[in-house]
Amino acid sequence: MASRVGEAIPLARPVIGDLEIERVLDVLRSGRLSLGPLLAEFERDFAERVGAVHASAVSSGTAGLHLALRAAGVSDGDEVVTSPFSFVASANVVVYERARPVFADIDPVTFNLDPDAAAAAVTERTTALLPVHIFGYPADLGAFERIGLPIVEDACEALGSVDADGVPVGGRGHPAVFGFYANKQIATGEGGMVTTADAGLKERIDSERNQGRAPDMDWLDHDRLGFNYRLTEIACALGLAQLERLDDLLAGRARVAGAYRQALAGIDGVDLPCDDTGRVRRGWFVYVIQLPRGVDRDSTVRALSVRGIPSKPYFPAVHLMSYYREHFGHREGEFPVCEDVAARSIALPFFPEMTESQVEQVAESLRDVLGR
Ligand SMILES: Cc1ncc(COP(=O)(O)O)c(C=O)c1O
Repeated sequence: MASRVGEAIPLARPVIGDLEIERVLDVLRSGRLSLGPLLAEFERDFAERVGAVHASAVSSGTAGLHLALRAAGVSDGDEVVTSPFSFVASANVVVYERARPVFADIDPVTFNLDPDAAAAAVTERTTALLPVHIFGYPADLGAFERIGLPIVEDACEALGSVDADGVPVGGRGHPAVFGFYANKQIATGEGGMVTTADAGLKERIDSERNQGRAPDMDWLDHDRLGFNYRLTEIACALGLAQLERLDDLLAGRARVAGAYRQALAGIDGVDLPCDDTGRVRRGWFVYVIQLPRGVDRDSTVRALSVRGIPSKPYFPAVHLMSYYREHFGHREGEFPVCEDVAARSIALPFFPEMTESQVEQVAESLRDVLGR
């Protein structure tokens, strides 16, 4: 659908078609709305897709990260080294377990947690590393593995990504956590998935997501502390349908990213997302650019909005959020690369069905607002 000049463009939009609608209607007609047959089907198909041995579906990426950290043994007083350039949930889940998120600076090109900085932040209290595949660009897992601590991967933005060793994100064996919020590569409204090569870890996560109940136990029997982190059958139906068309969804996102690269090339001072190198393939999630130094980001976002172009600062540095300042004493200047990147980043409209003329419209507006 071609966009008319001046027509508002959404920031993100899931692709929901007849396939998804039919599958959801089937669930509604079946009367099984939770803990039905689609749960295992979604887990099996998802694991197969990313080359994982096991997968556990959960109610959100945050829930998956929480359970994966618990399964990795993180508890009171522990430290988990992670990225300050992320969605806040990747640090919050550490706090849920009364452990401390220890931030380390990021790589200035990929924006992922820098493995050398992470290694330098390890202490005798560090029980896990939590690298984030930010914006779908795979973190340097080989380097994190050499540090020799348990790893939980935040893959919430990285479905479809392939790492530097040619391994699909989620297929490396560590618990890797995906998210299916409405802006993600596959969208179930809310939802998530934990992949792992460890059968014991899957068993624990399956139990803890379901109020601490083992598969052979009665409904009101519980042998450990648990949560309600279940994924509904409605969400599983959506997930299965989206998984079937994942190649098309990813190709759509890659096409839009390519169009942006062309349309934005040559805007003086604007930095575009880094290119894939070697065997790396980014599973495109968002299109985040860096504004020229010295440009006021908030007024840029406002001026774009007046032209019908939504955009947002993406991401603010986690350590500088008020909760983290107040509870952990963080201040400006601790992670200079992250702070510079976070201060200049804006996410532009990005979704698989975005047309070339919409991309052009965004690029024109940006050029206009920046006066370049
Ligand atoms: C990097 C990152 N981590 C964690 C999450 C949390 O996922 P959810 O919103 O599904 O809980 C998200 C999603 O927004 C994310 O982008």
